[in-house]
Amino acid sequence: MRHEIVEKHLGLMAIIILVVISFGGLAEIVPLLFLDDTTKPVEGMRPYSALELEGRDIYIREGCHVCHTQMIRPLRAETERYGHYTVAGEHVWEHPFLWGSKRTGPDIARVGGRYSDEWHKVHLNNPRDVVPESNMPAFPWLAETELDGEQIGAKMSLFRDKFGVPYTDEQIAKAKEDVQGVHELDALVAYLQSLGKTLPQKR
Ligand code: HEC
Repeated sequence: MRHEIVEKHLGLMAIIILVVISFGGLAEIVPLLFLDDTTKPVEGMRPYSALELEGRDIYIREGCHVCHTQMIRPLRAETERYGHYTVAGEHVWEHPFLWGSKRTGPDIARVGGRYSDEWHKVHLNNPRDVVPESNMPAFPWLAETELDGEQIGAKMSLFRDKFGVPYTDEQIAKAKEDVQGVHELDALVAYLQSLGKTLPQKR
């Protein structure tokens, strides 16, 4: 019997099982690649400015995403605390995405506008100055280092040409001038302040 052949040959059975499972996976994943909900930016969204994009790179360099997620799940406890749950359309221009998986600190997907710039600067310089029980590390060097802007034009062109982020030639041409000489701290704060404002936030 043909069935017996499959049962007696583990390798063959494993391959056939893989094929069956991948059909299941494809049926779930492929439609997502074509749905407007998951591939089109949310209405009213704008790309990061040159300064915010530099701030995002600092966020990655300093490993902020290791302690902070940017992914609010559709659960009551989360939407009450952080605001509207995260939707795919908010992240179509994110490369790499920074959803994260570990929350040592709070989710910051919608932290933009929740605190003043000044609060962020004090907090990043030494979190204990504003949140006495905080165990977040201090990042005092950010206030001392200036951006040179050498790479920002190239980064924005890459985001436009490879990932379809709608930057204009003008924005790219001005990028270096926009960020040159600005402290890393200010770029990071600009990035934080831009987060998650397109959908309703929790105040
Ligand atoms: C070792 C883990 C850790 C790292 C790394 C870390 N944080 Fe935090 N963060 C925390 C914790 C814990 C809190 C909560 C206490 C507090 O507010 O300081 C916090 C709070 C925050 C808040 C306030 C959020 C809110 O809604 O109240 C912001 C903004 C923030 N962190 C930004 C950053 C940035 C930017 C970086 C990288 C430069 C960073 N964090 C790196 C652990 C971390």
